Amino acid sequence: MIDWKNLGFGYIRTDRNVRSTWTDGSWSPLETTDSEYLTLHMASTCLHYGQEAFEGLKAFRGKDGKVRIFRLEENARRMIRTAEYTMMAPPTMELFREACVEAVRLNERFIPPYDTGASLYIRPLLIGTGAQVGVKPATEYMFVVFVTPVGPYYKEGFRPISVMVDRHHDRSAPLGTGWVKVGGNYAASLLSGDIAHKAGFPSTLYLDSAEKKYIDESGAANFFAIRGGCYITPKSPSILPSITNMSLRDLAADFGLRVEQRAVEFAELPSFEEVGSCGTAAVISPIGKVYDPDEGKTYTFGDGVNPGPWCVKLYETLRAIQYGEAPDPRGWNTIVEF
Ligand code: PLP
Ligand code: COI
Repeated sequence: MIDWKNLGFGYIRTDRNVRSTWTDGSWSPLETTDSEYLTLHMASTCLHYGQEAFEGLKAFRGKDGKVRIFRLEENARRMIRTAEYTMMAPPTMELFREACVEAVRLNERFIPPYDTGASLYIRPLLIGTGAQVGVKPATEYMFVVFVTPVGPYYKEGFRPISVMVDRHHDRSAPLGTGWVKVGGNYAASLLSGDIAHKAGFPSTLYLDSAEKKYIDESGAANFFAIRGGCYITPKSPSILPSITNMSLRDLAADFGLRVEQRAVEFAELPSFEEVGSCGTAAVISPIGKVYDPDEGKTYTFGDGVNPGPWCVKLYETLRAIQYGEAPDPRGWNTIVEF
């Protein structure tokens, strides 16, 4: 029996996952399995040369009992971009959609009940499975979608988190892979994340890798700030274009905020009224404090303990759309039929 209200962000085995393989230039029909394991050739390109892409999206059970997947098409588009940049066979939009919907349908009993704060995390994975020893793309690929029920990414939930600036490690380079969702970016962030955790901070704040002058993103989430009626978020070639952030920019504009997506100097930090991080896993995690260990300074936002009013409004509106409690005029939700 799952304790829905106390779920963390971890892996829980569900009943089934779905898979398709790319051989001879096309994707196979989806297969369903109850195995959590993959059988791989030891020379698979995913193991040696990092031909690996993943996505993260969520399904929510509404008060009306309907199950909605949030922004499935945008996640598909991003996986296709990642596949193209890393020379992997991209899943088609139809395959991506069918696999996500099917994985949710097959695991209905794991979709958390409404009002528990939990949701069903959907994890599409694309890997090069063909054998190569020379540095070349594989000729065979596997696309897998599994699901697992999750609670909040940070134990703080919607309470503000404290983040630590890291000028000594970069997760990606300006002309590198930061803008696509490949596993290597996360391997590159593990040591930095561990340093932050050991210092008592749930997340790192990365600055741009070229000059350390601009704010990039916060761990596995984008950064945004509110100042003078404006929603400000970094435009940087080395951050992942967050679909949550894309959605918040639309909501911010609906609320009458101006929206600025531009290079954001770290020096602007003290002038912000509210700051936050956003992503599928993190939803909106307001940032209460930013600690800069090089300068020995802490920047506090609001009272550092409670979320600011715009963070609350953005969070509540986003959440209401995801759970089907507010209209969805832009068609962000895909309703899963059972
Ligand atoms: N930035 C990074 C590095 C991420 O891993 C994620 C998570 O997917 C995000 C930002 C947020 O993106 P999204 O809102 O599309 O989940
Ligand atoms: C997400 O928000 O989906 C992420 O990818 C964050 C992390 C779990 C990798």
